[in-house]
Amino acid sequence: MVQSIGLPKEIKDGERRVALDPSAVKSCVQAGFDVFVETNAGVGAGFSNADYEGVGAKIAANAKETWAADLVVKVKEPQESEWGFFRRDLTLFAYLHLAAEPALAKALVDSGIDAFAYETLEEKGGLPLLAPMSEVAGRTAAIVGAHYLAAGSGVLLGGSAGVPPARVVVIGMGVAGTMAARGARGMDAEVTGVDIDLHRLYMAHQEGTVTATLASSEHAISEAVRDADLVVGAALVTGAKAPKLVLRDHVASMKPGSVIVDLAIDQGGCIETSRPTSHSEPIYEELGVIHYCVTNVPGQYPKTASRALSAAVVPKLVRLARDPEDPMLTGSLNISKGEIVHPVVAQAIGR
Ligand SMILES: NC(=O)c1ccc[n+]([C@@H]2O[C@H](COP(=O)([O-])OP(=O)(O)OC[C@H]3O[C@@H](n4cnc5c(N)ncnc54)[C@H](O)[C@@H]3O)[C@@H](O)[C@H]2O)c1
Repeated sequence: MVQSIGLPKEIKDGERRVALDPSAVKSCVQAGFDVFVETNAGVGAGFSNADYEGVGAKIAANAKETWAADLVVKVKEPQESEWGFFRRDLTLFAYLHLAAEPALAKALVDSGIDAFAYETLEEKGGLPLLAPMSEVAGRTAAIVGAHYLAAGSGVLLGGSAGVPPARVVVIGMGVAGTMAARGARGMDAEVTGVDIDLHRLYMAHQEGTVTATLASSEHAISEAVRDADLVVGAALVTGAKAPKLVLRDHVASMKPGSVIVDLAIDQGGCIETSRPTSHSEPIYEELGVIHYCVTNVPGQYPKTASRALSAAVVPKLVRLARDPEDPMLTGSLNISKGEIVHPVVAQAIGR
């Protein structure tokens, strides 16, 4: 039986989000739960201790006190320094992305904890707890892509009179890809959307989100990427390691100073030359191409991102606290009592 909910301060590099804003905490308190918020957990997103106390939360002096609750809710996957807080009678609700985090998966399995992941919770064919952050990350991809092109090839997305616009290729036209495409179109770039789902491409085409669409195949991607100024990777197979769709040779064929933003890096990356980066060191150059592969992109817009995440999470959190077998949590349970119970996640990490 869950009586208490802990809300630790995020500690991943550059992470300023918080999983619950004060209005979400108020909903939990009204639902009858004691909520322990780590001191200054919301400061990065603009929420003070007083804001949380005002809605009935108790302020915990440190992380340990929040992890002592029956259920811990947070944004990013627990960092190594938090793994010591895992215990058998604890429930965790957070982004886990275990396909790309086998060591974390092992620590969770070994501890006997029940770990529910936001990103695999399915509802009506969608991923309602991934979608809000994919929306923010997608919009951000267009912004950072345009920004790093200035330092790279010096191409402006929208071009100018007598100079054609930049070419942007978005691979995976789901929530993140659609928002990245919209952002790039908003800056007047020429945008090609790539997906295996022809209906998604039809919709993107109809709505004018892209200037062209391409059915996903190695051949089509190799040609599109060769001519691109900016490539955004946003392909996802729920729970699985991201499919490698842009191979090393394709990257080598890109123009010097082009930019890759691989949003799918949190699932291992859909571009062969991608490796995780952080807000402190967001980019590296490989084969003459700038790579931006930050695993917590929305962390740089903490107010918008925290409010969006919080609104999506709180109804599910209350259900989880009341009944972990609630059907509205379908797909979320990744690890239970020493076993990886999500079949796609289990396959992805070879257990
Ligand atoms: N880096 C970050 O901070 C950050 C933040 C939010 C989301 N993400 C990641 O962005 C990725 C996309 O998330 P989403 O919510 O948009 O997912 P989504 O499920 O809405 O969309 C994924 C799309 O990929 C397509 N796809 C699958 N296989 C493909 C293939 N072989 N070729 C082309 N397209 C293919 C699907 O058909 C779908 O349209 C995920 O990995 C997610 O975790 C990263």
